Amino acid sequence: MSTDKRRGTIEAHLVEQQYYKPPDEFIEQANIKDPNIYERFEKFPEGFEEYANLLDWYKTWDQVFDGSKPPFYKWFVGGKINASYNCVDRHLSTRKNQTALLWEGEDGEQKNITYQDLYREINEISAALKSVGIKENDIVTLHLPMVLELPMTMLACSRIGAPHSEVFAGFSATALSDRVRDANSEYIVTIDGYYRRGEFLNHIEKTDAALEGMDERPTVLVWTRHEKPMVDIKEEYILLKDLQKEHKRELVDPVERNAEDILFLMYTSGTTGKPKGCQHRTGGYLAYATGTSKYILDIKPEDTYWCAADIGWITGHSYIVYGPLALGTTSVMYEGTPDYPHKGRIWEIAEKYSVDIFHTSPTAVRMFMKWGEEHLEGYDFSFRLMTSVGEPIQPEAWIWYYEYIGKKEAVIVDTWWQTETGGHMITNLPGISDMKPGSAGLAAPGIKPMIVDGEGKEIDREVGKAGNLIITRPWPGMLQTVYGDDERFISTYWEEFSDTNSSEWEKWSYKAGDGAIQTSDKYFRILGRLDDVMNVAGHRLGTMELESAIVEVKSVAEAAVASRKHPEKGEVPDAYVVLREGNKASDEIRKCINESVEEGIGKFARPANVIFVEDLPKTRSGKIMRRLLENISNDEELGDTTTLSDPTIAEKIRIQVHGEGGK
Ligand code: PRX
Repeated sequence: MSTDKRRGTIEAHLVEQQYYKPPDEFIEQANIKDPNIYERFEKFPEGFEEYANLLDWYKTWDQVFDGSKPPFYKWFVGGKINASYNCVDRHLSTRKNQTALLWEGEDGEQKNITYQDLYREINEISAALKSVGIKENDIVTLHLPMVLELPMTMLACSRIGAPHSEVFAGFSATALSDRVRDANSEYIVTIDGYYRRGEFLNHIEKTDAALEGMDERPTVLVWTRHEKPMVDIKEEYILLKDLQKEHKRELVDPVERNAEDILFLMYTSGTTGKPKGCQHRTGGYLAYATGTSKYILDIKPEDTYWCAADIGWITGHSYIVYGPLALGTTSVMYEGTPDYPHKGRIWEIAEKYSVDIFHTSPTAVRMFMKWGEEHLEGYDFSFRLMTSVGEPIQPEAWIWYYEYIGKKEAVIVDTWWQTETGGHMITNLPGISDMKPGSAGLAAPGIKPMIVDGEGKEIDREVGKAGNLIITRPWPGMLQTVYGDDERFISTYWEEFSDTNSSEWEKWSYKAGDGAIQTSDKYFRILGRLDDVMNVAGHRLGTMELESAIVEVKSVAEAAVASRKHPEKGEVPDAYVVLREGNKASDEIRKCINESVEEGIGKFARPANVIFVEDLPKTRSGKIMRRLLENISNDEELGDTTTLSDPTIAEKIRIQVHGEGGK
């Protein structure tokens, strides 16, 4: 895809793909096989009541949707509900001894938590949290890896009505402290450490460092990976395991939350340096996550379902914790990485637990494909349904996934959605529509996506005609706002394609920030981000965030980050760096840059290349033309250089990177 944002034109050169039919056996047993479902959801807003009716409410809503103050919509107004009750308590009468969470440690250790166990644990943890003063509406920051304590703490928070804000464990101390501050969070829940590739990682040191510059220090509650701490724990921190013991067998009534009360915050990268706290509501979010888990992931209570994502991102919130548990299924969690201690680890776990539904990302599929089919050999597993999420999947990778992992028997749902949308937005209903490799598929029931040009005009449904992806009708899973910043909510998502003076919701459209095509069969193909947000191995990274971390290095004068296509990770960041006078490019500075990114964001964000240049290509008004750097990184023809203040700069950098022979 090549884009020219100023002109709003997007070129795409894609080849149409053939359809793949879901097998009859799948269709016969699918949760949804009646195509009338689309008609039912056409009725707005009543259609979405079908999702809300999957939940238990203390009080049902008086009004399905209140659109009177766009874009601050309200869903299931007047309803009262508790998410933890819906994910745990309500299953006790039918399946108390069924496994709720099946946890596999990196070293093969296994823990099965039944719904009854989960109920006990969550009650005790709720009591422990309350005992340190956590009250309804207090935001609790979690910085936890893939341990059972993560979903348990989330569910304890939602039980007592304290919104959680989980920060992915790979995020650094600085990233953690930024999020704690932004949320005015007075509590952090973390852990002493966890395992990665056989090594025990000290995790609590990130909290130690995050607290250093803070005047008002949050209360720190610490889980331990083993019975006793493996690293030094500061005296003022509270050991949660001990505290939980003090509350053994205590029961805490779930709080009746208003449907519109906050369930959680999930920070995500945007086009500015500051991450945005996407604020999700209780009733609408839970209804949407549960409904899509049932209809799109085809989850049934008797299934063993494995979403191999991290709960630290939205995928894990919606599709490891809230959706699957609200449906009363068995959800698998894995602590480690797919290649440790060997490259067959994923298939070993799939066989061990006889997983029915498998959920992963295109990055993982490309990696499995690169490792080769031989790593699948000797494992006996068979999936009924598989998911792809987080980035566009190339048809070749899709077909490999279908043939080798799905064994031509599993249905694939490619699900397009975002942290902001709470749940799936574009994807096929697996028992109804044919699959098309590379296409996320049709709009989900009740969802109205549209492809528009820069002026907001709908683009013809044709291969090769791409545009901005917008959503023209509200849905219950959508974020309520950017935490503490309503203006940013409007300017980021609504301003561009809405009539912001209008009080009619019909005049407002949500901007996704992605480029996409809709073909005549109404299938959508997602091309990727149009803004300065990259998608590295399915993780969203703002180029501005990276650049701010790089210019922290004293010898750096200026930096621009460009996205380079990568065969496995999808995209990787290339950093173009100008040094201050008197400094020479060196491995030492390169190391400092990498360290600064690790400290500012996390190891996963490290630039793939650091390229020292004399100057950056800029417009006459001084704006850095990242698009040209992207052309250079990808060895593409340089786009329009006429607006540059010095047109020779881009050419010089191109020669520096590719030599005279480059494009
Ligand atoms: O660019 C799209 C891409 O991931 C972005 C959202 O990232 P995040 O908020 O981290 O959520 C990821 C998990 C839902 C989108 O703007 N994206 C997500 N799913 C797909 C996708 N791109 C193509 N195909 C998908 N299925």
